[in-house]
Amino acid sequence: MTTREIAAPLTDKLLTRQATVAIIGLGYVGLPLCVAVAKVGFRVIGLDLNADRVAQINRGESYIEDVPAELLGQSVQGGKLRASTDFSDLKMADVIIICVPTPLTSTQEPDISYIRSASQAVCDNLQEGQLIILESTTYPGTTEEVLLPALSGTRNGTVGEDFFLAFSPERVDPGNHTFNTTNTTKVVGGVTPNCLAAAVTFYSQIIAKVVPVSSPRVAELTKVFENTFRAVNIALVNELAMLCDKMGINVWEVIEAAGTKPFGMMTFFPGPGVGGHCIPIDPYYLTWKAREFDFHTRFIELCREINMAMPRFVRDKVIRALNQQRKSLNGANILVVGVAYKKDISDWRESPAVKIIHELQADGAEISYNDPHIAMLPVGKGLLSSVELTPAALAAADVVLITTDHTSYDYDEIVRHASVVVDTRNATRNVTGNRDNIILL
Ligand SMILES: NC(=O)c1ccc[n+]([C@@H]2O[C@H](COP(=O)([O-])OP(=O)(O)OC[C@H]3O[C@@H](n4cnc5c(N)ncnc54)[C@H](O)[C@@H]3O)[C@@H](O)[C@H]2O)c1
Repeated sequence: MTTREIAAPLTDKLLTRQATVAIIGLGYVGLPLCVAVAKVGFRVIGLDLNADRVAQINRGESYIEDVPAELLGQSVQGGKLRASTDFSDLKMADVIIICVPTPLTSTQEPDISYIRSASQAVCDNLQEGQLIILESTTYPGTTEEVLLPALSGTRNGTVGEDFFLAFSPERVDPGNHTFNTTNTTKVVGGVTPNCLAAAVTFYSQIIAKVVPVSSPRVAELTKVFENTFRAVNIALVNELAMLCDKMGINVWEVIEAAGTKPFGMMTFFPGPGVGGHCIPIDPYYLTWKAREFDFHTRFIELCREINMAMPRFVRDKVIRALNQQRKSLNGANILVVGVAYKKDISDWRESPAVKIIHELQADGAEISYNDPHIAMLPVGKGLLSSVELTPAALAAADVVLITTDHTSYDYDEIVRHASVVVDTRNATRNVTGNRDNIILL
């Protein structure tokens, strides 16, 4: 049979959008993808171990800010999307996409146990002609070294003939109102030409531009490189911020001025550290894999060192702000404004705010926080609740520390009522009054 003939039944189902698509892992990546795939007409089954999330989806309720409940509800009510905890539903799927977490272990090594467990569920239910795509961010080689042997060992199937396998990294940027799942270019690498053709045909039904690459490894490394690029550049401006602090130069002014160069410059901003599920984690997947090749990823190690030092640098800024008032950190009331890892989202995973709070508490500070997106925050063994950002709360704090620059905040009000503001995001740049009370990063 020719390449075209082998993939023909699946290709026809994809082009007519009669295929059923199963998406494993219904988080920040999987849920927006479910809605985007259902919207173009495919039947979608979302699978997750978390029964609460599954029930919420089936009620048409969204728990991800970027997924409007209305859109989700339309897909569910229209019979295009349903969620399940029953992995035998995978048998009904023509396409299976894996979007499960890829964190680090306590010793900072890749934890691909979620990928292994999802791939086991796929193996247990594998049907002839299925297209399996891994979207979780991971080190180069995962698709061919972990998934391929497991799937090939199931019923002795041949990849590219009995089943199809590809890797396509998700590039979702939570809180980004311009770029979403469907208008962000998608890179795809297939294990064989048939696998690539099937995956490109599938994504072309949903996503404006699909870029095929020669292998899953290229696609895997592309994603890790993108996030490493960000991590390294953020580290560079964080280092600059620490130097500017010593030199008495406003780093924000320097960055703004440098950004006026119309070529050869890309603006990154310093901050209290890096957070979320990507930047603090993904580069270390590469560091780990590089060791297999007796290669040391020096840039990555260096940027980690710098970015990880930022919470402590912020703590030192707070201490200096207290010093100016002849106060000590021990017993000081610090009001932390914004704890999400970036603005306008509710994700606090790896958030630098949590690390800073931890550091401040360790030295005896009394911490309260406000975040309109996060009602409760686990810090250490305790749980903090978001307080209202009233004039009284602002005035009562010895230091108001801005760690996340949510758009909804009224920064004039914050500066007006606070005795001193440590601003790690230059969120107060447009505030004109009481600027003497602002200490920038
Ligand atoms: N969050 C982002 O901004 C982002 C962006 C691009 C890529 N990614 C990558 O996408 C992947 C998923 O990240 P996320 O942020 O969506 O994670 P998430 O934690 O928001 O969601 C993951 C979901 O998978 C479920 N899950 C875990 N193990 C499972 C299993 N064996 N079977 C079924 N469901 C399972 C969890 O219950 C959870 O609902 C990661 O590799 C991440 O690095 C994330």
